[in-house]
Amino acid sequence: MNEKTRPTRLKDAEFDDLFALLQNWDGDPSCHQMLNLRRFLKSASNFCTPSMVVLDISAGECRYRAFFKHAQYVAIDSLVGDENWNYDNLDIVGDALNLPILPESVDVCLNTVSLEHYSDPFQAFKEFARVLKPGGTLFLYSPFADYEHQIPNDYFRVTRYGLAHLCESNSLAVKSLRPSNSIFETALDLIDMTVQMLPDPEAREKLLKILRGTFKPVFVEADKVGETCVDFPRVSRTFQFPALYLLRAVKLGHSEPTPIHDKHSKLLRRIIACPECKKPLEWCELQQRCSDCKRVFSMTDKRLQLSAKNAGAEPPSAPKFFQMPDSESLSADELLELKKHASKLARESKSEDEALATFAQVLSEDAEDAEIWNDLGVLHYGWDKPHLALECLEWASQLESAGSHVHVNLGDVCQERGLPWDALRAYRRAFVCDPSDLELLWRLGAILIKLNMHGEAEEIYKKILEFDPDDTQAQRTLNELEEILAHRCVG
Ligand SMILES: C[S@@+](CC[C@H](N)C(=O)[O-])C[C@H]1O[C@@H](n2cnc3c(N)ncnc32)[C@H](O)[C@@H]1O
Repeated sequence: MNEKTRPTRLKDAEFDDLFALLQNWDGDPSCHQMLNLRRFLKSASNFCTPSMVVLDISAGECRYRAFFKHAQYVAIDSLVGDENWNYDNLDIVGDALNLPILPESVDVCLNTVSLEHYSDPFQAFKEFARVLKPGGTLFLYSPFADYEHQIPNDYFRVTRYGLAHLCESNSLAVKSLRPSNSIFETALDLIDMTVQMLPDPEAREKLLKILRGTFKPVFVEADKVGETCVDFPRVSRTFQFPALYLLRAVKLGHSEPTPIHDKHSKLLRRIIACPECKKPLEWCELQQRCSDCKRVFSMTDKRLQLSAKNAGAEPPSAPKFFQMPDSESLSADELLELKKHASKLARESKSEDEALATFAQVLSEDAEDAEIWNDLGVLHYGWDKPHLALECLEWASQLESAGSHVHVNLGDVCQERGLPWDALRAYRRAFVCDPSDLELLWRLGAILIKLNMHGEAEEIYKKILEFDPDDTQAQRTLNELEEILAHRCVG
């Protein structure tokens, strides 16, 4: 859409229609939570102009995408929320604590009902402030009095003072910070929500009727009385106990407007960065390479630490980090001998120069041998060159001749480099090659637990126990997983 055809903001009627869809989703349209959400979305949506880049951090199922369709909206999430959610509408898979986004590239950060899920809220705010342009705005909607949800990823409830502190320590000036509702409303909500969780439908309906019919007026009345008392918390504002806090904060400074991108893919390319060093990426269809640290990413699987839709063209190519010599063609036997020599050097790993020269010669004859790339990757890892190791192993793992151990090596290096999604993808590939490798099953199980994919982890531990029914550690882990899955609640 170009600048002339793009509306400058949503029409009120359109906003109302979109909000009606959300209401169908969440039930009672008159409850204060829906009224607050409406106010929050309306002010954020109206604030955004067509040129603004809006980054919805931890967007989940992207319920609010349509409210920002007049702007340049990008959704990111790390997929650790509810297992049954549909994450297909996301633009980027990534961690809020390490956003794969260029510094100062975003006009608005949106963060709804997610701060409580971050293990390190200080780091999250640091990241919000890093990606915001000077003068950019953070709209945050964060639960305070709420049940634990999306467990075990539910870490903190932050007070007004905590939110203000998080802003101030990251050069964000608080423009508005208010509680969503009164203490009596919270009290009534908590009882109402708890009753709604009762398993017996008849008892539930009966109690809700009494609560909403008989008791609600008492709470409403108490609220009114509270409002008239000068010393009462709600009026004095000394104490608060709201369901949520609503925050708007602005990063100090000023910057030029962002240009409008005619294609969403161009926008993504403009703002996505290497998660490792936060520098821009060079793009081709299946791989992206960091322009600085040269680390390679793949976007063939949505569940990667870094992935994006609609990238450009160009097939992937073998890593070109050393010059392959123009050698005289070797005979098949000579090549075999040279490969054996290369493997021996890889095992002994005595002289880096000699090994590199031999591998370069082998690869100039046959660049499709997964074993050779695998050995070279392992060597680079031993030489403390993890970026090159990753590049070799990633390439080896894409070759048809790659065996299970190649994918496992890649997974191990990814794990050590703090790239759990890449590691998971590699272990999954290994599993396809050899589903009976017990060591691999343990690795796969552990990474799935780390990424909170408890359902899939449960299947893996069941498989481990099929091979070894007496393994007490596997049994203990399986029991814990079953308990987590039984208690899983929806956020
Ligand atoms: C309660 S949901 C809120 C989703 C959405 N913002 C909304 O309001 O509908 C919390 C979301 O935070 C995401 N999340 C949790 N930890 C994250 C992290 N470290 N990085 C990115 N997203 C994360 C979850 O995957 C989940 O989608």
